[in-house]
Amino acid sequence: MGTIRLFTNIAQLVTPVRLGVHRGAEMTQVQRLADAALAVQDGTIIWVGRRTDWHGSADEVVDLAGRAVVPALVDPHTHAIWAGDRLDDFEARLQGVPYEQILARGGGIYHTIRHTAQASVEELIALTIPRIQQLCASGAATIEIKSGYGLTLEAEMRLLEAIALLPTALAQRGISSPEIVPTLLIHVPPREGRATYLQAVCSELIPEVARRGLARAVDVFIEREAFTVQEAEQVLQVAQAHGLGIKAHADQFHALGGVELAVRLGALSVDHLEASGEAQIRALSGSSTIATLLPGVSLHLGLPAAPARALIEAGAAIALGSDLNPGSSPLFSTQLAMALGTRLYRLTPAEALIASTVNAAAAVGLHDRGALVPGARADFLVLSSRDWRDLPYTLGGQIIERLYIGGV
Ligand code: NIG
Ligand code: FE
Repeated sequence: MGTIRLFTNIAQLVTPVRLGVHRGAEMTQVQRLADAALAVQDGTIIWVGRRTDWHGSADEVVDLAGRAVVPALVDPHTHAIWAGDRLDDFEARLQGVPYEQILARGGGIYHTIRHTAQASVEELIALTIPRIQQLCASGAATIEIKSGYGLTLEAEMRLLEAIALLPTALAQRGISSPEIVPTLLIHVPPREGRATYLQAVCSELIPEVARRGLARAVDVFIEREAFTVQEAEQVLQVAQAHGLGIKAHADQFHALGGVELAVRLGALSVDHLEASGEAQIRALSGSSTIATLLPGVSLHLGLPAAPARALIEAGAAIALGSDLNPGSSPLFSTQLAMALGTRLYRLTPAEALIASTVNAAAAVGLHDRGALVPGARADFLVLSSRDWRDLPYTLGGQIIERLYIGGV
């Protein structure tokens, strides 16, 4: 057994009460301990309580000088690996050209695909590292990264290989790595030959990705300009047959049945939901599928906010993510996604914390983190404030003093 580190003099320690998914009314409850301490051994929390209740012996004591401590955040939805920019799209959209129209013309996501294809793996890694550093500086210890700007099977595979190299590349630069959770995203169809493409995705790409362990889940963008519900079902069933988790981008612009499909197939999460209504809320209310909401998209594209309050009232579990990507959400902060969740969705601080920790972890299939309880991974944040509510409150400031990953 390794050494025991005691983190003490914590003005407020605030955490979900337990690990795992919190749904509906369970999202309103967090545990708040004043004048707390936290003991860590071998990267795992072994004790949490009031400072005066610690009677163990620690090998090292870390005085946190009266700061607040909360679990580290989990960012369950990013497209952090890409090359090129979308600044022309940005200007066009500000002048009134819709995102979907840009995509239908072969721009948008297709533009990023063309630029990403021209970058080497080394260049892609060099572009992605500072994005990861910014997400970590904003509190994320676990970050999901999707492929999806590859399109051809080779290019998609190359993106997943680059994602797999990121922890080593970070270590070589002396940067401590968050846990990176890779997802294969089947994003948009080729302009020609979509049936052949989907056939190849199912018979070649997914089996190869599963065999090489390059992704934990497969995601499909279900939308008028992307894939149909039937096409997504085909892809997701193949993913499940290969032992991979499944996810979907659904109801971003139109409610086409993607949420219902994700729920029916037992997806880990269904993400976006800006266009979801009663039927989709009902489908999610009794399901194990997490509704991952992405406030950066509503802000950046001017879309309606997803129906977060109605989802919680119906008993669904919601998670929050940055959706960091160049087109719909250039949001380089997991903390800001949480902070926007309180404004755009009217989440309480407690709901936002749960959505950004235990529920976000569950959305990527992880149940060992997101709550500061014995047995959990020791991923936590020391805030620069005594009051944890500064975390969902702060917009654009640096509220995080330090991120501990596995107690280090
Ligand atoms: O989550 N909607 C599809 N995919 C991304 C956007 C990708 C892009 O615009 O480059 C999303 O919004
Ligand atoms: Fe996305």
